[in-house]
Order: sequence, then C-alpha cells, then structure tokens
Amino acid sequence: MTALLADKEAPAVPVGSTLSIYDPIFLGIDEFGAHVNLELMGRNILVGGEPGGGKSGFLNAITAHAALSTDCRLVLFDGKLVELGQWEDCADEFVGFDPERAIRVMARLSALMNNRYTWMHAKGIRKLDWTHGLDPVLTVIDEFALYTATYGDKKTQEQFTALFRDLVARGRACGMPVVAATQRPSSDIVPTSLRDLFAYRCAFRCTTVGSSDVVLGHGWVSRGYSAADILPTNQGEALLLSEGGTPRSIKGSFLTDAQIKSIADYAAWIRRPNRLENQR
Ligand SMILES: Nc1ncnc2c1ncn2[C@@H]1O[C@H](COP(=O)(O)OP(=O)(O)OP(=O)(O)O)[C@@H](O)[C@H]1O
Ligand SMILES: [Mg+2]
Repeated sequence: MTALLADKEAPAVPVGSTLSIYDPIFLGIDEFGAHVNLELMGRNILVGGEPGGGKSGFLNAITAHAALSTDCRLVLFDGKLVELGQWEDCADEFVGFDPERAIRVMARLSALMNNRYTWMHAKGIRKLDWTHGLDPVLTVIDEFALYTATYGDKKTQEQFTALFRDLVARGRACGMPVVAATQRPSSDIVPTSLRDLFAYRCAFRCTTVGSSDVVLGHGWVSRGYSAADILPTNQGEALLLSEGGTPRSIKGSFLTDAQIKSIADYAAWIRRPNRLENQR
C-alpha cells in the first residue's frame, strides 16, 4: 500500500470489474427463457408503451450497463427526475424538468457531433468504433414527449424537437447513440420520419393496435405482432424489434430501487476521473 501511494506516476487502475458499452447489453429473456442481449453501438432504440408497462425498468437496465462501462459517457434526460435520477452521479449531465436546460444540453451534444464529424472527415473515418479512442456518449431520455410537447412553450418544444431529431439522425455513426422512451406512442409524438431513425424498437403494452404500430412500424399488427395483446398484468413484457428483423416477445430484466442504488453507487465510484492515488 505504501509503495502504491508513493508512486504518484502509477497509471490509474480501476479497482473492481467493469463493462464496455461495446459489450452486448443484457435486456431480459425471451419466451424460451434464452437471454436477450443487444449491441447498442451504432444503433438507436425507441421504447414506447402505456404508463406502467415497464419502459423505465428497461431504460434502467441499459443505463446500468452503460454506467458500469467506463468507456461510455452518459447524458440523461428525465422529466420526472425519479426514473433515472439514481444515476445522476454517473452522468456528465442529468436534465430534469427544465426545458431551457434540456435545449442547452441538446445543443452541446449537437456541437460535439459536429466536432466529431469534422475530426472523422479529416481522418477519413466513416463510422467510429472502439479503435478510434473517442468515448461513446450515450443519451437516455425517459418520456421525451415531456420536452417535445409538454414543458415550455411552442418555441422551446420546437427547438428541442429539432435538436433531438438531429441527434437521433446523426449521433449513431459518431459514437453517440440514443435510447428514448415515451408513454404517448401516437403519430403526433412519434411521426414516422422520427420512428424510422430508430433501428431498434421496443413496444411495451399499448392500449391500441395503432400505438403498437407507431412504435414497431406500420404493418406489424397485421402480421400478428401487436403490443396491445400483452396482458396488463404482465409488466415488463414487450415486443422487441432488433437484429432478427421480426419482433420477438421478451420479458425485460428488472432492477429494484435498492439494486439500482447499489449498482449506481459502485458505478459512480469506478467512474471517478481521478482514481485512488489522487484522493488523499
Ligand atoms: N421487467 C419487469 N418485470 C417485472 N415487473 C416489472 C418489470 N418492469 C416493470 N415492472 C413493474 O411495473 C412497474 C412499472 O414499471 P415502469 O415504471 O418501468 O413503467 P413505465 O412504462 O416506465 O411507466 P410510466 O410510463 O408511468 O413511466 C414497476 O414498478 C414494476 O413493479
Ligand atoms: Mg416510466
């Protein structure tokens, strides 16, 4: 211990295990009990469904993985504060119900994208990966309709919507994926042009077949995949549209508040920029 403390030049080595955002993320199980994992990098995920369906539980599972990934920076938007609030100490930014702040943070993400694309252009890189040495920045937004249609006025909502759409459209190739959830999966909140920017879509129980199609894409209900068929008592069940190209039924993993507290506490500790030798 004495030798360690004496060596101020020793490289920082995090104590305890970590994950990488390039690792597959564990989301839950399918109807056969097999693990469902998802590779997030290079993709965006849209999450929709009625209140109480399990969206925030799903977002917390992804955020937990990202928080434990010391190669990933986190930007969190949570208009209710309490859904993602426990991860605040792990995030570069945590935005609550302040629409002006939400716009400022989105504008910073937009500037970061511009910088990254300028750098990639100079280097002749079309898609960022782990070999390029830039940390991914994951943006998680729980209930984006609060920012696009509820908080603030028409002007701030339009500003936020434009910046949000830009991030979803351009972020994934420069290492800035987005996970966004809404309890209002209607065509005014999730127009087709926005929905189609999300390669992955996850529909928790929806009240109507129309809402299910808004999340998964038009036509899935007529092909037998409707999130309106999910029982209201089966919270956490969802239809996930990802690599396979066909929605599959999953039961999301669920972290209790106490489990989130303990993971977030550990994650905040391993994410300290100045590790133990600088903490004296
Ligand atoms: N995967 C799951 N397994 C078991 N229970 C779950 C699961 N996901 C959610 N639940 C239960 O459903 C409740 C509501 O879940 P959650 O808060 O994630 O819903 P939501 O879709 O975010 O709702 P809202 O739109 O109101 O924010 C949880 O408190 C929990 O009791
Ligand atoms: Mg929620």
